[in-house]
Amino acid sequence: MDDDEPAGRRVLITGAASGFGRAIARHLHAGGASVGLVDLDGAGLEALAVELGERVHTETCDVRSPSAVRTAVDGTARAFSGLDALVVSAGVIHFKPLAQVTEADWDLTLDVNLKGAFLACQAVAPHLVAPSGGRMVLISSDAGRRGAPLIQAYASSKFGLLGLTESLAAELAPAGVTVNAVCPVACPTTGMGEQVLDWKSGARGVDPAAVAADAASGNPLGRNATEADIVAVVDFLLSDGASFLTGLAIDVDGGLHLSALPGMR
Ligand SMILES: NC(=O)c1ccc[n+]([C@@H]2O[C@H](COP(=O)([O-])OP(=O)(O)OC[C@H]3O[C@@H](n4cnc5c(N)ncnc54)[C@H](O)[C@@H]3O)[C@@H](O)[C@H]2O)c1
Repeated sequence: MDDDEPAGRRVLITGAASGFGRAIARHLHAGGASVGLVDLDGAGLEALAVELGERVHTETCDVRSPSAVRTAVDGTARAFSGLDALVVSAGVIHFKPLAQVTEADWDLTLDVNLKGAFLACQAVAPHLVAPSGGRMVLISSDAGRRGAPLIQAYASSKFGLLGLTESLAAELAPAGVTVNAVCPVACPTTGMGEQVLDWKSGARGVDPAAVAADAASGNPLGRNATEADIVAVVDFLLSDGASFLTGLAIDVDGGLHLSALPGMR
């Protein structure tokens, strides 16, 4: 949110105990927002709540559970006398060859990343449409744009989030609610970013720092994503300046989605 926008906006953030969700919560709170922090990690939420102080409400919640999500959303709306925006950041990933992916692997990934997002949007929507307006921002991924080896469930969930974004954007536009998605490329400093880096490091037998350096050198803009890159775009999508944008997916990837001339590299 910009400094000249009304303080006191009330934003519920899933996955707020770590990574992008925590960075978004810190930034919005510093700008005057009240932040509803939702995560499975109660200790992480508590630490962030202590750090931030006032204008914070925490709800330890598994986003796979419809009743838990509804309780968390309604509890946050009660604490803040309403809600103005939702940011969906809770997510999980695993890397496995197709033959080794279990039903539990698939269900966990789809249930947290896609069903959890759907449940949060469904529970928050009534708080946004009355009286009118409000924002939803869903964190998808570059894996929501292009498939890659060994992340069948993750990519499916992240592609699914873009379908959810477009459908909700169309459905909620008459109520003045905008719904947009952000598609970050790998950011090595978050919880998931470290997990991904460690996995790649083990798979290639090289140091995690070398993996991160390789990824940076393969990016058109020559570096990896930072949490601040994602925070800036989410902040913009929540701002008054983005009030005419809905149903979009923004690639926060340094241009990695761009192609080269065939045969030229
Ligand atoms: N870091 C990256 O490289 C990257 C790139 C693209 C997209 N993303 C996406 O960004 C989002 C945030 O990831 P991050 O990188 O900050 O990772 P992170 O691990 O730091 O944060 C994810 C948070 O989700 C929470 N969570 C997991 N399962 C949950 C559940 N069932 N209920 C409630 N909370 C749950 C975790 O406790 C954690 O706090 C994810 O959706 C991820 O897919 C991350």
